[in-house]
Amino acid sequence: MSPDKKKKAVAEACLEYVSQGGIVGVGTGSTANFFIDALARIKGRIEGTVASSEATAKRLESHGIHVLDLNAVDAMPVYVDGADEATRQRYLIKGGGGALTREKIVAAVADKFVCIIDDSKMVDRLGAYPLPVEVIPLARSYVARRIRSLGGNPEWRKDFVTDNGNIILDVKHLDIINPPEFESELNQITGVVTNGLFSRRPADVLLVGSDGGVDRL
Ligand code: 5RP
Repeated sequence: MSPDKKKKAVAEACLEYVSQGGIVGVGTGSTANFFIDALARIKGRIEGTVASSEATAKRLESHGIHVLDLNAVDAMPVYVDGADEATRQRYLIKGGGGALTREKIVAAVADKFVCIIDDSKMVDRLGAYPLPVEVIPLARSYVARRIRSLGGNPEWRKDFVTDNGNIILDVKHLDIINPPEFESELNQITGVVTNGLFSRRPADVLLVGSDGGVDRL
C-alpha cells in the first residue's frame, strides 16, 4: 500500500474521535489534509475547528468548515495531527511543515491529542529526522551555537518563514535518549520559541496505518 493510502486510512479511522458538537483542533501536513477532507463529510456534526496553520485554515475554509480563533475557545475535546517521527511511548518529532509552535499550542489546549501516521514514521529512538526548532530571527546565530554545544548540527531552513514570522533551524544528527529532558533543555535557550519534540505533552492516541490496516497505540 502506498504511504498516501495509509495516511488516508488513518485519517478516516480518526473520525471516530471527533465528538459530536465539539471543537476540533486540526494539524498541518499531508496526513492532516486527508483528515480535513474526511472531516468535511461530517462538518454538520461539529461546532467548528481551530487550525494549527494558515494553510490548514485555508483548506478547512475551502470545505466550508468553520474556523475559530483559539482565544475564543474554552474547551477542545480533540486535536488531530500527523508527525515526522513517533515512538511506542507516543513521543513525537513534529514541525516538518514548520507549524510546530501553533501545533504545540493547540495540542496543549486539547483534552485528547490523536496523532495519525503511516508506519514509516515509527522509530525506536527519535532524532534521525532533523528536529525543527523555531527561533526569533535576531537570535539565529546564538541559538545555533548553543545547539552545537549540545552536540546538534543545526541547519537554517532556507526561504522559509513561519506563520509567526520566525525562522526554523533543523537540527541533524541527534540521538535523543531522554526526549522530555532534551525538549526542556532546548526550550531554555533564549531566542528559541519552541522545538518540535512533543514529549512533555505526547500524543494520547497514536493511529498507525500499515499494509495490515490501522493499529492503535
Ligand atoms: C507540520 C507537521 C506535520 O504533522 C509533519 O511534518 C508530518 O507531515 P505529513 O503528514 O505531511 O507527513 O508537524 O508542521
